[in-house]
Amino acid sequence: MISLIDLLYKNEDLEDNLLLELITHLDADTAPYLFEKALEKKSIFYKDTVYMRGLIEFTNYCKQNCNYCGIRGKNTTVDRYRLSKEAILNCCEEGYKLGYRTFVLQGGEDPFFTDEVLVDLIQTIKESYPDCAITLSVGERSYESYALLKQAGTDRYLLRHETATKSLYESLHPNMSFENRRNCLFTLKELGYQVGAGFMVGLPNQTPTDLVADLRFIKELEPEMIGIGPYIPHDETPLKGSKGGTVEETLVMVALARLLLPKALLPSTTAMGTLDPKGREKALKAGANVVMPNLSPTDVREKYELYKDKICTGDEAAHCRQCIEGRIKSAGFRVDMGRGDHASIHIPE
Ligand code: 5AD
Ligand code: FES
Repeated sequence: MISLIDLLYKNEDLEDNLLLELITHLDADTAPYLFEKALEKKSIFYKDTVYMRGLIEFTNYCKQNCNYCGIRGKNTTVDRYRLSKEAILNCCEEGYKLGYRTFVLQGGEDPFFTDEVLVDLIQTIKESYPDCAITLSVGERSYESYALLKQAGTDRYLLRHETATKSLYESLHPNMSFENRRNCLFTLKELGYQVGAGFMVGLPNQTPTDLVADLRFIKELEPEMIGIGPYIPHDETPLKGSKGGTVEETLVMVALARLLLPKALLPSTTAMGTLDPKGREKALKAGANVVMPNLSPTDVREKYELYKDKICTGDEAAHCRQCIEGRIKSAGFRVDMGRGDHASIHIPE
């Protein structure tokens, strides 16, 4: 195990069969060494920095029906909301005052948000806060749409690939195309976005071989950001009652992603904090370097329930800001409130 980890550290790659061996054989004795090396790799480009992003969940309407997701269109028990332009700008204003210089606008695939509506929103945010980066995360759209949104000022785009195994992807996403999702990611890259891909760990029927495929896919795509989180079941979905991923197996994937793509921006996800009160700190110690505290108004927070028991639903933006900062510092890291671009664009101080 140790020699495989050292080889991966040195080459920033490892053959699929060896990645598989690592994933299947790492245990409580050997995993800490992997985490240590991942953290060491992260430090080369990002030192002890952790970047902060302000997350605004601006609509929970969604036309898709991902079988794992709590806000899937067919879940009639969800209280749907859509923030007005003014409400979104208020979130940005509050976030700016709290020091955030990246706003992540995330939502379901909501047909209300046409190109025209989104372009106007993004232009307004950019005019008001020219020193901030805007990250969009609103699912699959056309080439033209991604081009218009980029032109309007969007800097980054998050679109997890979810799983790189076609059969598993199709079993989880009714009426969606595996090829289209990948094409969207390549289009976003081509258009010059900083792109975020990523996947869930512990999905029903997911095997270690599938996880190797996820790692291979990110190595090939070379996204600037990689969101990796445990799958957590939600009772109002077809996957109700299924087993879910663990913090430990997710940490292994975070660390491997760091060693394969040393410069990546890797969030320590809310889902990790949901499974384990120290989950986000553990991810930072395994090579993650981004956190995304919530800026959404508290009265809509619990309506954006992708999975069970999501944390921070009752907490004000200022409270999360403080809470996260304390966690980052106590884990031995330094908070950076800057835009936090990818290391290929900007070398951190
Ligand atoms: N458990 C964990 N993550 C989930 N997501 C959606 N539903 C769940 C769930 N039940 C993730 C998906 C999506 C991101 C916004 O949240 O990977 O891309
Ligand atoms: Fe929201 Fe800790 S980050 S309460």
